[in-house]
Amino acid sequence: MTHQYPALSAEQKKELADIAQRIVAPGKGILAADESVGSMDKRLGGIGVDNTEENRRLYRQLLFKGDERMQECIGGVIFFHETMYQQGDCGTDFVKMIKDKGIVVGIKVDKGVVPLAGTNGETTTQGLDGLSERCAQYKKDGADFAKWRSVLKISETTPSPLAILENANVLARYASICQQNGIVPIVEPEILPDGEHDLKRCQYITEKVLAAVYKALSDHHVYLEGTLLKPNMVTAGHACPTKYSAEEVAMATVTALRRSVPPAVPGVTFLSGGQSEEEATINLNAINNCPLARPWALTFSYGRALQASALNAWRGKKDNEDAATKVFLTRAEANGLAALGKYEHSGDGAGSAGQSLYVANHAY
Ligand code: 13P
Repeated sequence: MTHQYPALSAEQKKELADIAQRIVAPGKGILAADESVGSMDKRLGGIGVDNTEENRRLYRQLLFKGDERMQECIGGVIFFHETMYQQGDCGTDFVKMIKDKGIVVGIKVDKGVVPLAGTNGETTTQGLDGLSERCAQYKKDGADFAKWRSVLKISETTPSPLAILENANVLARYASICQQNGIVPIVEPEILPDGEHDLKRCQYITEKVLAAVYKALSDHHVYLEGTLLKPNMVTAGHACPTKYSAEEVAMATVTALRRSVPPAVPGVTFLSGGQSEEEATINLNAINNCPLARPWALTFSYGRALQASALNAWRGKKDNEDAATKVFLTRAEANGLAALGKYEHSGDGAGSAGQSLYVANHAY
């Protein structure tokens, strides 16, 4: 058996655990606003707005300037590098704007996916080189948590044992480096919704992937109380002919988590993965009403499902900014309620909130 050498002091552990708890306090979740410049091109292109640094700043500003309702339901905001160093019109740093609301600032630190040669189109995620130095700098600049996204695909032949092992290991290595720098790692092994597979197959794969991730985190001596998990919900593939209810999705999701995620993990913050805004809220609400014991906070870390209606309301026009902020807050509040299992259907399923946000082979 390997010997355990000290990795973190009691003070370091306490700091990490406190940060994680603040992010997933009851009724709170995460706004993922860390789209890379490339992903912003797709988002802004969809509403006919040029992907310039200034337009990205204006767009992020309308999300960040939400009134006191925002801190009731948002515990953390994930930034992209560029956004960390931008300011609002008033000259205040975005980081300060968010921290002044009592919201924790996070930073995406991975550098995107690259092919795993010899596999059927599978990938690993790069960004470990220089990560410790980058984390130390981000911590000084106000970030207290980070995100690293790994991607797995379901098909007849995937995910392969290599992709599962490699991505689990790279996530664990990233998590260990973050913790050494006082940064809470969000561990994100995203299983894409592409494919025709049914709910059972997604559940099976999710269990295997998460089990491998927690084995690797243990091997790397990662302090689980100072981490958060960001998984996909267990859903059928996008092209599956069978449709499942929110209760079925919730049961499959909570069952998979119970089989693989230790209770020491304080929170599970789901990605929305191309679900419509309303679907993502309803599924989260069902998860929080699932009749199984749930030892972790179960909440949201949505990108598309918190932003799609706001983007549409904005369309790059100054006059629309306040309306767009309001639309964003409405979705954030709905998800805050869903995190408590108290969301009541808005009946907006037929409107823009009901529109699918699925993108094949989604990059971030
Ligand atoms: P979606 O909620 O749009 O899936 O994205 C969340 C995210 O941060 C993916 O890394």
